[in-house]
Amino acid sequence: MRILDKHQAESYAVEGVEVTRWEQFQLTSTVPFQAMWYEVPAGGAAPLDQHPERELSVVVSGEAEVQASGATHVVTQGQAFLLEGQEAHRVHNRSPKAPLLVLSVYWMPERAGELAAAAAGDGGESNE
Ligand code: NI
Repeated sequence: MRILDKHQAESYAVEGVEVTRWEQFQLTSTVPFQAMWYEVPAGGAAPLDQHPERELSVVVSGEAEVQASGATHVVTQGQAFLLEGQEAHRVHNRSPKAPLLVLSVYWMPERAGELAAAAAGDGGESNE
């Protein structure tokens, strides 16, 4: 088991959002995803985002207002939201006081398909 500790990790600011990427934990060869924590300050918002990866986000603390596919949803602490690949999204923190901390896990959909096929014993050309 490994503890992945945000407080002992390197982070940097992107348009006012503090981003702590999991690349620094060097898990890439052992897990089929990447991940990051991001913290949106009170009253702030993360930049508009769109990418081929699917993205599962868990609200660790605070409350997220998520705009995606023409709708707006409030996601509370402990809840999660799943975004499809290429689904544009923007996360706001409407709280006047509390920061919003999100753990986001993302992966390429076709990569997950390859791994599932390999796990099911279908083989696959990638190993040969
Ligand atoms: Ni995203």
